[in-house]
Amino acid sequence: MRYDDNLTAERKTFVTHLECAATGERHAADEIHNLSRAGKPLLVRYDLGGIKTALSKDALAQRAPDLWRYRELLPVRRVRDVVSLGEAVTPIMPLPKMAAKIGGGELLVKDEGRLPTGSFKARGLVMAVSMAKALGIKHMAMPTNGNAGAALAAYASHAGIKTTIFCPEDTPEVNVSEIGLQGAEVFRVNGLIDDCGKIVGEGKAKVGWFDVSTLKEPYRIEGKKTMGLELAEQFGWSVPDVIFYPTGGGTGLIGMWKAFAELEAIGFIGSKRPRMVAVQAAGCAPMVRAYEQGSEHAPRWENAHTIASGIRVPQAIGDFLILRTVRESGGFAIAVSDEAISEGLKEVAREEGFLMCPEGAATYAAYKQSLADGRVKRSEQALLFNCATGLKYPLPPIRRTLDRHKPIDFSMF
Ligand SMILES: Cc1ncc(COP(=O)(O)O)c(C=O)c1O
Repeated sequence: MRYDDNLTAERKTFVTHLECAATGERHAADEIHNLSRAGKPLLVRYDLGGIKTALSKDALAQRAPDLWRYRELLPVRRVRDVVSLGEAVTPIMPLPKMAAKIGGGELLVKDEGRLPTGSFKARGLVMAVSMAKALGIKHMAMPTNGNAGAALAAYASHAGIKTTIFCPEDTPEVNVSEIGLQGAEVFRVNGLIDDCGKIVGEGKAKVGWFDVSTLKEPYRIEGKKTMGLELAEQFGWSVPDVIFYPTGGGTGLIGMWKAFAELEAIGFIGSKRPRMVAVQAAGCAPMVRAYEQGSEHAPRWENAHTIASGIRVPQAIGDFLILRTVRESGGFAIAVSDEAISEGLKEVAREEGFLMCPEGAATYAAYKQSLADGRVKRSEQALLFNCATGLKYPLPPIRRTLDRHKPIDFSMF
C-alpha cells in the first residue's frame, strides 16, 4: 500500500442525509446547506450498517496514518475533491512529571499542534473546503479568533477558492499575518467574534459568499469528529475516562461525541464513554454558567476577555449540543483563570519540555483544579487537548546576552 493511498484510492461512501440537530428533520445530502430550516446546526448521517459491513479494523490498520484513513465515516465522496495539506495523526503524549507533581493519575495530552497551520482547526476546515470544492462553492467567508481563519485560508487557497476573513481587532498578529499570507482577504474588526459573524451573515446575501462560521455549515464538525475516531483507535479501540476540551464554539466536543456513537454503531468500540469536560476561561464562560444553572441554552457572555483567544466565544450556536454532551457523558463544565492558564503553560513547558498553547494550558489548569476539588479522581485516565502549537502565540522575551569580548563569570551557571 502506498503512503498516499488515502488521497488517491476511491472508497465507498455512506452519507445518507443531513439531519437538523434540534428537530431531526431530514435535509438532502450533496447540496449546499448552511443551517437547517429551523435555523439550527445540521448533522451528517451515514448508513452505519453499510459501513459496518464495508470496513474492518484490520483494513483500517493497513492504511496510512492520516485523517483520510476514515473515509467511509467522512462526507467527501470523490478523491478528486480531497484538499489535503498532510493531516497527520497527532501523537498522544504522557505528562508524568506534572501528574506526579499535582497528585494526579495517568495524564495524557493529544498534541494537535502538529497539524497543517499548527492547530486542530485544520481538521474541520480541510473537510469544509473539500466539501465546498465538491459542491462548486467559489467564495467562502468566516469570522475567526485566528486559527480557524488560518486553516480556511490555507485549504481554500490550495483548492483555488476565494476567502474573506474577519477577526477581532486584538487577534494575535501571527494569526492575521498567516491568514493574509495564505491568500485570504483579511480584516480586523473592532469587536468580538460574534460581531465578525454578523458581517459574514450580512455579506451572504449582498456578496454571495458561503458562510463557514462554526456549526453554520455541516462539515467542519465531521472533520473535528476525526479527533474522536483517531483517539479511539490510538487507545486500542477504547476511550479514556475523562476528556478535557477547551471549548469555544464546541465543534470538537460535539464532533467527538458523534464519533463515539458512530464507532459503537459499527461495532468498533463498546458502550463506555469518556466524561466530557468543557473547559472555558473565567473571563468568558457562558457554557459553565449555563451548566451550573441547569439551563439548556447559554446566553451571550458580556465583556468577554481572556488570554486564551481561541476560547473567547461569547455565544455559541451549538450551545445546546455542548451542554447536552457534557451532561449525557456525566462530565462537567469548568472555568479557569488567566493566571492559572499562564502558570500551567509555564509549568508544563519548564518541566515537561512541552510548549502548549494557552487554550491547551487551560485544559491542564482545569485538570489540576478538578483533581483538587475532587471532580476528577486519581484513578481516572485523563486526556487533555493541546489544540494548537504554543509557537503561534506571543512568547516572553529573554534578554540575557553575553559579551564574548569580556571574561565570562562561569560561577553563574
Ligand atoms: C487554539 C484553540 N483552542 C480551542 C478553540 C475552540 O475550539 P471549538 O470551537 O471546537 O470549541 C479554538 C477556536 O478558535 C482555538 O483556536
